[in-house]
Amino acid sequence: MKIVINGITGRMGAFLFDYLSNRPEYKVVAGISRQSLDLGINIYYDIKSCLENEEIDTLIDFSFYPNCLDTVKQALINNVNVISGTTGYKKYDGQQINYLAKKHQVGVIISPNFSMVNKEIEELTIGIKNYLPYVEIIEEHNIHKKDKPSGTAKYFAKLLDVEPDKIHSIRIPGVIANHHILFADLNQSITLSHKIHDRQAFINGIEHAIIEVTNYNTIQIMI
Ligand SMILES: NC(=O)c1ccc[n+]([C@@H]2O[C@H](COP(=O)([O-])OP(=O)(O)OC[C@H]3O[C@@H](n4cnc5c(N)ncnc54)[C@H](OP(=O)(O)O)[C@@H]3O)[C@@H](O)[C@H]2O)c1
Repeated sequence: MKIVINGITGRMGAFLFDYLSNRPEYKVVAGISRQSLDLGINIYYDIKSCLENEEIDTLIDFSFYPNCLDTVKQALINNVNVISGTTGYKKYDGQQINYLAKKHQVGVIISPNFSMVNKEIEELTIGIKNYLPYVEIIEEHNIHKKDKPSGTAKYFAKLLDVEPDKIHSIRIPGVIANHHILFADLNQSITLSHKIHDRQAFINGIEHAIIEVTNYNTIQIMI
């Protein structure tokens, strides 16, 4: 499978490049970066020049919103499957991406958290909320994270019908991504905490997406 990574110099992009490069079933044929680099593969400044020169099955994007939008849309228009983990998408972006994926018959998976956003955890949180309806969300990330609140916090806020003023963002050094969902009633509370200790935590979800997205019926836009 021929893969291009958009954001290949970033913390996630570089981690993923190292990981996928050691797996024989994937071939990272190129990367997209604003920097000129020597990574042993072709690096393109933008998706347009990449599409002109490479045959690609799937674009994996961990970059920066809104810059990622054009890259994602161009990939879909050119019949390339898309996996995007970049956070900060708006609802209307999802509608446009959905339209393009259907029109060009390609798969697309956008998830704010490839380690945490899954059916089991969603069902667990909905189940706890049925007993303890007062919910607050705390998200902790590294000081370098640019968007706030996190895409994961916004995703769970939407899922659990939590008002924006009940999401709390903390930016501190030494943290990758932690989320705490507090559930309470008048007499008791439960806190569900999810902490990322290593970016390896995202890999299972991303590998699953790499397989799923090759089915053009797969349109999972979790914004
Ligand atoms: N879905 C998930 O599971 C998951 C997990 C971790 C992170 N994320 C998200 O993935 C994205 C990337 O995270 P990261 O930690 O890898 O970030 P990062 O280290 O800041 O890397 C982002 C990369 O995006 C590129 N970029 C393109 N346009 C940019 C712009 N205008 N400003 C800044 N960077 C730009 C940069 O590459 P060049 O300078 O080479 O162009 C940069 O290296 C974020 O949105 C983050 O929230 C999602």
